Amino acid sequence: MRRGTRQAGPLMLAALSLLAACTAKSPQDAAVRATAEGERLFLRFCSGCHPDGGNSRYPQKTLSRMVLKANGIVTVADVVALLRNPGEGMPRFDRQTVSDAEARAIAGYVLATFP
Ligand code: HEC
Repeated sequence: MRRGTRQAGPLMLAALSLLAACTAKSPQDAAVRATAEGERLFLRFCSGCHPDGGNSRYPQKTLSRMVLKANGIVTVADVVALLRNPGEGMPRFDRQTVSDAEARAIAGYVLATFP
């Protein structure tokens, strides 16, 4: 009898589904906070069109928290979703360019920095 191998299956499955649950939850739960990493990435990828949280291409669509809120962008996950699928005039940032963790750092920085 190979008891050991038979028991490993369910345990492994439980561990994997726990891991999946944690990873799936993190984007929505990501805290809004400005990190040095978020600032660095923002300056690298975003500030060309969004200097000081403005918008040089579409002046009404600034990154001000009030303006974002009026446009339905409130959480870190909302900003990340916009980066993956932006409106006209903004380049799409895919996972090869900006990883999920980087996108969350940028989003936290944006939401915490521009009032
Ligand atoms: C080439 C110029 C350009 C770059 C680079 C750029 N954006 Fe934008 N962004 C725009 C334009 C244009 C819009 C307005 C598009 C729309 O929402 O219809 C916009 C809209 C937005 C909005 C929604 C603003 C609102 O008031 O609804 C957010 C949030 C945003 N950008 C974040 C970012 C972040 C974060 C980065 C960097 C990762 C970035 N953008 C890089 C041009 C740019």
